[in-house]
Amino acid sequence: MSLNRKGRIPFRIPLFETYFDEEDVEAVVSVLKSGWVSAGPRTEEFERSLEKYFGVRHALFVSSGTASLHLAYLASGISRDSLVILPSFTYISTLTPLLWIGARVKFADIDSLERPVLTPETLDEVVTTEAEAVVYLAYGGFMDGIDKIKLYVEGKGLILLEDASHCHGSVWSGKRAGNFGIAAGMSLYANKNITTGEGGVVLTNSSTIYEKAKALRSQGITSSSYQRYQGFEMDYDILEVGYTYRATEMQAALGLSQLKKLEWVTKRRRELVKLYRELLTEVDEIIIPFKDYNLSGNYIFSVFSRVDRDALRIHLFERGIQTSVHYKPLHLFDVIKRYGDSQKLPVTEKAYSMQITLPLFPTMREEWVEYVVESLKDGIAKIKNSGK
Ligand SMILES: Cc1ncc(COP(=O)(O)O)c(C=O)c1O
Repeated sequence: MSLNRKGRIPFRIPLFETYFDEEDVEAVVSVLKSGWVSAGPRTEEFERSLEKYFGVRHALFVSSGTASLHLAYLASGISRDSLVILPSFTYISTLTPLLWIGARVKFADIDSLERPVLTPETLDEVVTTEAEAVVYLAYGGFMDGIDKIKLYVEGKGLILLEDASHCHGSVWSGKRAGNFGIAAGMSLYANKNITTGEGGVVLTNSSTIYEKAKALRSQGITSSSYQRYQGFEMDYDILEVGYTYRATEMQAALGLSQLKKLEWVTKRRRELVKLYRELLTEVDEIIIPFKDYNLSGNYIFSVFSRVDRDALRIHLFERGIQTSVHYKPLHLFDVIKRYGDSQKLPVTEKAYSMQITLPLFPTMREEWVEYVVESLKDGIAKIKNSGK
């Protein structure tokens, strides 16, 4: 088997690879030729397509996933001093917009290595009468139990928000992201299952949240520059103190073209995950979280190692395989410790110490999955022999 992949040194098998075809290239070029490059007709078309795909009433395309979460939080009424509960086992962007707003935050632990997400039980350990909202992260695209979280959160009189950044292609109880929380933020960053380079989307079924987020996206101005470009407007007003969170028409055109490939991307990821899972069945040292990979977009292939995680990553690196860790928990970062009482989250900390993300991308070949698994097995044997 040849694993020489030119231009990819040092990794023969990278963690992920972007995938663009001629249609993507044409889409971007056609925008440049059209002469209008900031939010305009392509953006609206992309938003309508996202609404259709996710089955939500409103989608708002913005400049990043972090911006989408910021707008989702603000438009849902999170304000200074609101107490918000979220996982620590997530990317920093789930949290940073809350800190910009001045909200108070508390982390909830994840359930287990088999289900590294929040559950009603883990929430119950930290939810108090002061809490206003819960943010749920569908880790790796697994919206596992989000329907139960919704019931729990509503029963407590709180609001549910989704960080749906891993949920392109995911489904739970027959519904896609944005249909459980009152609003969701989602990233379309370069390494996501579909991408606009940088970008994000707010998904919601609430017209009030949508209108507010839309105003905030563009400095709270009552008309867009595209509307002014098309016609004549004497005056405009500013209704909110907003942001410049628009994305470009090139990004929207790329998004439209990428969205057409999402079904194929999801299918391919599921096939590769199925193979990984089959090949790893007998490997007791590796725990694979979740069961329903056919309901997930499988943004990452995350596993937990019972042998020394760092030694295993070094072994894989030496075999030319790039790995990563998703995630170092937020409460362990220095900057975050300054924002509140230090919390002990035993399952989150254990998960962090054992977690490895293995390569997964739609153009990955079956032989490469086999090579990764063979290398994992050798690594485990070597580490066990060395007594670690
Ligand atoms: C869980 C999660 N939340 C938020 C984000 C932020 O997205 P962006 O990088 O587009 O701002 C990401 C991106 O990687 C993410 O994985």
